[in-house]
Amino acid sequence: MIELREITEEDFHDVLSLELSEDQQKAKLVAPNVRSLAEAWLYRANEDVFPYAVYNNEELVGFILIDVDEEERAYMIWRMMIDKNHQGKCYGKKLVEKVIEIARQREDMDVLHCNYVVGNDAMKKIVESFGFVSNGFDDEHNEQLMKLDVK
Ligand SMILES: CC(C)(COP(=O)(O)OP(=O)(O)OC[C@H]1O[C@@H](n2cnc3c(N)ncnc32)[C@H](O)[C@@H]1OP(=O)(O)O)[C@@H](O)C(=O)NCCC(=O)NCCS
Repeated sequence: MIELREITEEDFHDVLSLELSEDQQKAKLVAPNVRSLAEAWLYRANEDVFPYAVYNNEELVGFILIDVDEEERAYMIWRMMIDKNHQGKCYGKKLVEKVIEIARQREDMDVLHCNYVVGNDAMKKIVESFGFVSNGFDDEHNEQLMKLDVK
């Protein structure tokens, strides 16, 4: 079972050791986890950016950074990654499914956003399988913007 857990002193180093394949790193599909944790710290006063360790049962398999915009009633998967040794086991898909479930439980959220770099076929396949639809294109970051109604 996929779970989002707060990162603690016990698993902090393991979260930083999670890795992508060389090709995925070169393609810059997602920022390094250390950067995401630094950004979560930077925006901590706003209380709207939440980093989590992703566990499958008791095993650490990935990382996710969630952004919550109460004013816009929008939930966003800002960053997510599954460690290279755990990819291809459906954890990425189950992780997105879990976030959809969490967003749907929040009555103050209408929409879930999830964007991906063009050419990220795994992420494209995952979000489309849950019914996300295009929300435009970000030229600056070469990202396809996707959204899902969670009302
Ligand atoms: C994207 C990512 C999270 C997917 O995690 P994963 O656990 O390997 O994915 P899953 O095993 O759940 O696979 C989901 C689907 O994508 C497909 N898939 C996986 N890699 C693929 C690839 N390179 N090209 C096309 N399809 C791919 C799988 O076959 C599966 O399809 P299915 O449900 O029809 O069988 C992972 O590859 C990753 O961390 N990538 C680098 C970081 C990244 O891209 N983050 C997303 C930023 S928005």
